[in-house]
Amino acid sequence: MRSHLIRGLLLLSCIFVLSESRSLNRKDKIYLLKRITEWDNAPEAVKIAKGRVTTKHKAKKYKFVFKTDDGSSCNAVMNVNKNGTGRYSWECDSTHKSDEESDEHYKMRRRHLRGNKKPTELEGSGEF
Ligand SMILES: *[C@@H]1O[C@H](CO)[C@@H](O)[C@H](O)[C@H]1NC(C)=O
Repeated sequence: MRSHLIRGLLLLSCIFVLSESRSLNRKDKIYLLKRITEWDNAPEAVKIAKGRVTTKHKAKKYKFVFKTDDGSSCNAVMNVNKNGTGRYSWECDSTHKSDEESDEHYKMRRRHLRGNKKPTELEGSGEF
């Protein structure tokens, strides 16, 4: 029983040493906003709401929520390997409607913004 406990604690401390997880800081958020612009068909991110980055054997995993200019909230994951390759995926809520949407001026502005943009998807993934 006791050796189980010790083994468990050892395993736990190994995991703790090998992978480090922390909240995103300002620099991470600026970096992610830039990376999202490279994602195929992804909506334009205006803000990173919250997230965490886990580092494991020099590979990084970003798990975060970003906001788009129409008020949607998108869950995203980006894995970056040690050699710089990686993959990303995102999923945006389609049900979210902001109160401002009933406002005529806002609707026109949205239409205008949309007109200048390539079509976006509610979810997707890709590699880099
Ligand atoms: C980069 O690293 C990943 C994971 O370690 C590996 O699957 C991939 O083949 C590597 N790519 C290159 C170009 O070295």
